Amino acid sequence: MNLDFLFDKLWEIYTLQNPDVQKVYNLFKSDGEDVLNDHIAFRTINDKRINIDVFAQPFLNNGYEYVNNYEFTEKHLLAKHYEHKTLNNAPRIFISELILEEFSIDLKSFMLDLINKIPEKAFLSEELIFSGNLWGKPSFEQYNKLRQESEYAAWFYVFGFCANHFTVSVNNLKKHNTIQKVNEFLKNHGFELNTSGGEIKGTPEELLEQSSIKSGLIEIDFIEGKYKIPGCYYEFAKRYPDSTGKLYSGFIAKSADKIFESTDFYQK
Ligand code: NI
Repeated sequence: MNLDFLFDKLWEIYTLQNPDVQKVYNLFKSDGEDVLNDHIAFRTINDKRINIDVFAQPFLNNGYEYVNNYEFTEKHLLAKHYEHKTLNNAPRIFISELILEEFSIDLKSFMLDLINKIPEKAFLSEELIFSGNLWGKPSFEQYNKLRQESEYAAWFYVFGFCANHFTVSVNNLKKHNTIQKVNEFLKNHGFELNTSGGEIKGTPEELLEQSSIKSGLIEIDFIEGKYKIPGCYYEFAKRYPDSTGKLYSGFIAKSADKIFESTDFYQK
């Protein structure tokens, strides 16, 4: 599977499920902008059949290499980031995993049961990362129960394997070339920003500023009926050069920690 196919497939599923993302993308395009991705992020569980290293495989097979890792103690997550060895415009890949051992026996055994339901051959397939929910129709009651311990686990239970977010590189925008301008543009068009930790996470001194729209509410067919819950979100990142003049390429754990909350449950 080549990279273009992989990215197209991920984008297709992501925008189909999250019409707000396509609307924002179209807004930028119709304003004459070229939209390049800073990074694409994924969520998974630290079970060895589906952990970060399994998720990274299709990218490693296509010229990516490991760059750095991050810890989110409060949310009980680990993450790794990968970059393409030669293609400068290829998005960074950011993959996080839930550390099951740090949760209740209930949550842990529930999530293990889900993974056990995945057909054996899916574990080895490069298509795993966009294969969605492989354990059948979710329960709204169970979704809410998981949320009390981990919004991340609840999100994963409903959506499974897919891109959690794409991130627009603000550095590559011509007109909307600051996070402030991007945020104003989005708000003027009726999109709601994730305000946890402020509208802008990070500072120019930290070499990375990020913002995101809250995940749009999408209707999910649960066992108990149809309910609207937050899907995926769209993120925006502006990077600054470090003291050597090289554009900072890492991630800032305390900013990412707040960005994770873009999929937290809310109602309208
Ligand atoms: Ni991100």
